[in-house]
Parts: sequence; C-alpha cells; structure tokens
Amino acid sequence: MEPCDLSTNRLSLRCPTSADIDRVTGICGDPEIAAFTDVPDPYRRDDARQFIEDVIPNGWSTGTMLTWGIYRRADPDILGVLSLSEVRDGSADLGYWIDRRVRGHGFMTEAVERVVDYGFAAAPTGLGLTRIGWEAFADNIASARVAKKVGFTLEGVRRQAVLRGDRRHDLTVAGLLREDARGAHHWSSAEVQTDSSLPPGSRN
Ligand SMILES: CC(C)(COP(=O)(O)OP(=O)(O)OC[C@H]1O[C@@H](n2cnc3c(N)ncnc32)[C@H](O)[C@@H]1OP(=O)(O)O)[C@@H](O)C(=O)NCCC(=O)NCCS
Repeated sequence: MEPCDLSTNRLSLRCPTSADIDRVTGICGDPEIAAFTDVPDPYRRDDARQFIEDVIPNGWSTGTMLTWGIYRRADPDILGVLSLSEVRDGSADLGYWIDRRVRGHGFMTEAVERVVDYGFAAAPTGLGLTRIGWEAFADNIASARVAKKVGFTLEGVRRQAVLRGDRRHDLTVAGLLREDARGAHHWSSAEVQTDSSLPPGSRN
C-alpha cells in the first residue's frame, strides 16, 4: 500500500525520508528509548538509514508495518515516530518514541489519537481494523499514560515476558477496540502489580 499522510491540529504525520536520518540518529541515542524499545543500542547512523530507507518502505509496501514520522506543522524537523505493526486480520500493534526534548506536550497522545482513528476507519478512508494492541515494560509510566489517555483498556500483565539487561521484566498489555469509548481511562493500581512496584523478595 502507499504511505498515507495524516494531520492533527499541531502535527503532520508522514513517511520519514533520508533527510531525517541524522535527527533520528540523535533522537534514538537516548538511553530511555534504548531501555523501553527494541531499537539497536548503541544506535548508529546506519541503523537510522536502514530504518528509514528499507524497513519503513518495506512495511508500507507489504502493508504489515505502517510507520509515520511526527512533525510539527510547517517545521521539517522530525520529532519521533509511531507505527502500527503486525497489521493482519483486522488487528495491529501500536509502538512509538519521541525526542526527549519535546516530551510532555501531548504530542504523542495527539499523534496516536489520529492514527487510531485512521486504523479503525473503514476502507478506503482507513484500515478497517477491529483491534489495536499495546504492550510496554511495566515500569514505562509515560507510555502507559499515553495509552490510558487515548482510551486503551488494561488487559493484564505478561509476567517476566521480556529479557532486558540481565533480568526478565513484566509487560503491561492493553487494547482498544473499534467500538470502545475513547478518552482517558483509569487503570487502577490494584488492577496491575508490576515487578517494579513490588518490594524485592515479595514474589513467591
Ligand atoms: C512514551 C512517550 C512516547 C510519550 O511521549 P510524549 O509526547 O511525552 O507523550 P504525551 O505528552 O502525549 O503524554 C505523556 C504523559 O506521560 C506523563 N509522564 C511522563 N513521564 C512520566 C513519569 N515518569 N511519571 C508519570 N507520568 C509521566 C506526562 O505527564 C503525560 O501525561 P499528562 O498529559 O497526563 O500530564 C515518550 O516518553 C518516549 O518516547 N519514551 C521513550 C520511548 C518509549 O518508551 N516508547 C514506548 C514504548 S512502549
């Protein structure tokens, strides 16, 4: 499929180009992105080049991973990216990262809301999805906050599902269905106990 440009009040979402390689290299050198996503660490210029020139175009052409760069309207500097991956059979998984210098301004929430609208809209306007899934390390508070604000429902914890560094970590799992109400959901702390919220040695 062809890349689909989207826009919001403040943002333009479009396919990154080779002009973004240097900024993406700088943004992905952030230890927090390395810790919470599966980008290469250390992140080299060639990783950004391969991502932008091979991985993203292939994802669009096969229709299995759709990636948008996030830009302020009328500003050519890329701020971050978000993707719908594993797109098949009416389902997709959401992923994202953004430049640490622009976090906390609601940019990712705004971008995700637009991509979710596109994902659920019927073809040819959108993808006609039924479900969008989200997963994050249980201690990734900012990412969970974005998912909650958009309206994802907490579905549970995949205990010790992922190896990071020298130990395994819990993954929080959430999902949004086409028919779900949008807008902020409350995920009670009683609903999810994370490895980071438990004192050492408290697990059986
Ligand atoms: C997750 C991420 C994309 C959020 O981007 P962003 O543009 O800052 O997101 P928004 O501004 O839309 O929302 C962030 C929310 O998290 C909150 N937040 C951020 N850090 C927080 C923390 N340590 N504790 C509690 N809340 C936190 C912000 O206050 C904001 O909530 P609010 O609007 O209710 O105040 C960004 O932090 C990031 O790129 N992190 C590293 C990569 C990553 O974790 N990707 C996701 C992998 S699943």
